[in-house]
Amino acid sequence: MAAFDDSAFDDHERVIFCHDTKTGLQAIIAIHSTALGPAAGGTRLWSYASDDEALHDVLRLSQGMSYKNAMAGLAFGGGKAVVMRTPDFDGSDALYERLGEFISQLNGDYITAEDVGMSVDIMEMIARTTKYVAGLSRGDGKAGGDPSPKTSFGIFKGIEAAVRFKLGNEGVAGLTVAVQGVGHVGYNLCRYLHEADAKLLVADIDSARARRAVDEFGATEVPLDEILSEKVDVVAPCALGAIMNERSIRDLHTPIVAGSANNQLEIAADGQRLHDAGILYAPDYVINSGGIINVACEYFGDSSDAEVWEQVAAVGPRLTGIFEESAASGKPTNIVADEQARRIIADASG
Ligand code: NAI
Repeated sequence: MAAFDDSAFDDHERVIFCHDTKTGLQAIIAIHSTALGPAAGGTRLWSYASDDEALHDVLRLSQGMSYKNAMAGLAFGGGKAVVMRTPDFDGSDALYERLGEFISQLNGDYITAEDVGMSVDIMEMIARTTKYVAGLSRGDGKAGGDPSPKTSFGIFKGIEAAVRFKLGNEGVAGLTVAVQGVGHVGYNLCRYLHEADAKLLVADIDSARARRAVDEFGATEVPLDEILSEKVDVVAPCALGAIMNERSIRDLHTPIVAGSANNQLEIAADGQRLHDAGILYAPDYVINSGGIINVACEYFGDSSDAEVWEQVAAVGPRLTGIFEESAASGKPTNIVADEQARRIIADASG
């Protein structure tokens, strides 16, 4: 294992390996940057094939959080934790309490929240031993709780910005949107789109979820392997990453790709491929920042829930700025976003 030589190493400030014999906890916390504030990013529970794979993932994800937090205008740097689902992993209260102790040792340089494999309940366990945690159940009218409804709202605002920029439409009424994955984010996105009179195509490996969108929002269910290539106005990937690649981009029949899934581009060059095909791509970590905005407001404790919705709505104008810079410079939107994020972090680093 060679952290400094890992391809995802990007001048990370600190990488902490956490081990506890009693509970079996094995975790890695990576702090990419604290230039803008405490490094914030969720904890991911995952079965990694090796320590190297876990290290690579946490390095990559923590850098991504720096960019995401910078672009969301938050006073947060970027960090991430991964908990390794080892063969004897038991997910006990004690294990997560121990993780909280490790997070506490960092004195607030790293703040955690939910990511894959986590829940509000687990965040509550971690919160027994550290105050550097968000994504807890919320009090009345306060920011906090499950971030996915905020994420969905940000995606909806992002889709509105994209159709205004690309198609010249004010709003989504009469447009058709293909939503891949109608889980936490996709379901609420469908609700917003339906209320705004858009037509919906949906696909989900969980057919009950797809049916719920059909029943509640009049969506049309389409086969899993056809959702991305349907002739629509917007494709909204809300399930998996790496769905935009050399093969899938060839088959797209949409002018816009705008959805919540993390890491939609299989490789960065797929951003150029979309750009060359005349397809407007809303960079994933900009359009899906509603959740982290919610987390920031909860953590800093200075916003009401109503103010959080307002901050999330700013995702629309932020994307418009990226679309405009892309059109002016001829660079793909993913590159424009990365450059803007790096500029914000560099300016704060002095
Ligand atoms: P979720 O797990 O609730 O929903 C994902 C849905 O996609 C599930 O219904 C699942 O059955 C479906 N799915 C999985 N594979 C599929 C496939 N091959 N084809 C069609 N459907 C498939 O997850 P959630 O929270 O809705 O997140 C969706 C995406 O958005 C993920 O990539 C996540 O990382 C990302 N995201 C979520 C945020 C949040 O606040 N929940 C914040 C930022 C990003």
